Amino acid sequence: MSNATQLIHSIPVDELTGAISVPIYQTSTFVQEAPGINKGYDYARTGNPTRATLEQIIAQLENGSVGVAFGSGLAAIDGILKLLQSGDEIVAVDDIYGGAFRLFTQVYQKFGIKVNYVDTSKVENVFEAVTEKTKLIWLETPTSPTLKISDIQAIAKVAKANRCWLCVDNTFASPALQQPLSLGADIVIHSATKYLGGHSDLIAGLVVTKDKELGNQIKFIQNACGAILSPFDSWLVIRGVETLHLRVRQHCANALVVAEFLSKHPAVDKVYYPGLKDHNNHEIAKKQSSGFGGIVSFSLKEDTEAAAHQFVTSTQLFKLAESLGGVKSLVSHPASMTHKTIPEEKRRAAGVTDSLIRLSVGLEEVEDLIRDIEHALSSIKIRKIQTV
Ligand SMILES: Cc1ncc(COP(=O)(O)O)c(C=O)c1O
Repeated sequence: MSNATQLIHSIPVDELTGAISVPIYQTSTFVQEAPGINKGYDYARTGNPTRATLEQIIAQLENGSVGVAFGSGLAAIDGILKLLQSGDEIVAVDDIYGGAFRLFTQVYQKFGIKVNYVDTSKVENVFEAVTEKTKLIWLETPTSPTLKISDIQAIAKVAKANRCWLCVDNTFASPALQQPLSLGADIVIHSATKYLGGHSDLIAGLVVTKDKELGNQIKFIQNACGAILSPFDSWLVIRGVETLHLRVRQHCANALVVAEFLSKHPAVDKVYYPGLKDHNNHEIAKKQSSGFGGIVSFSLKEDTEAAAHQFVTSTQLFKLAESLGGVKSLVSHPASMTHKTIPEEKRRAAGVTDSLIRLSVGLEEVEDLIRDIEHALSSIKIRKIQTV
């Protein structure tokens, strides 16, 4: 049976009523017959049937044993960091999501947790960065906005040899394309706000572990610290996940057409997309994922913020907004949005040049998206002529 069929039928029918849609148990507490005698639930921070269904679905989707749902992707990352102790070290991908970087440096550093950032697209860098204090290796693959790819299987071997956990933020690929636990990772996290939810209408985070005991430790943290996902948002994620494979397939198909179009356009300098043969880790992307995702980044020959701003304010279908992974196409300018607080030199060295633009390619007809991009690119040329 295919993964898509399996997923659709892993979403249970309600045993009590036969409802085909998972019921939303909007309750704070559960009546008990006698102290400690209940129907499996006592208080909704500790456990809620709607959330529990989502946790089972994501565990199965990621080929893991325990799923844990948090109130946001960052709360999920925070839940994992709480496994560590003062003096522990993390080796993390240098192109890490900005919110994770802020959490690591501005919250956890003062508790004595040190993070060593390296370019994980070269396995030897990870091998060299690991010390005997390293407890966790943190990957994103692909990364944002430069779509770097790291070899999960090879890095899992480094983690195993050094007795530390490998955690993969699988937000950009989604389990429809890539299952890090099957490649040797210990923990997967998601900003379910993105492809899993899929409709830009919620904020949610998910964690899945391979090992049951480790999963139970994270469940303990979820209850002890309380950053749970609400029943309604759990239901929204379940509803999004039902169409995950279908949506992701179309995101990938559209993104490839967009990337190929951009590669040939005279106003475009570099295109970042793991599906292009000239991407430096294209072969690794092909080996570990069944598709290349819906995010495409590119820089302009006129490498200025002004040119990029002209583009991002000229598209009609690509809406200017942070976030990604929804039905509607989005465009963002990392240098003046997500990466604004990073010092210029550091930002440029990481490949986030002044004109770099990130597209979250949505589910519109791809011909319409190409026309929209073509129009926005031509507006840069017109602006230049007008300002000379
Ligand atoms: C790769 C990645 N991980 C984690 C997060 C954090 O997720 P959330 O915004 O749901 O807290 C984001 C948000 O953009 C992200 O892009």
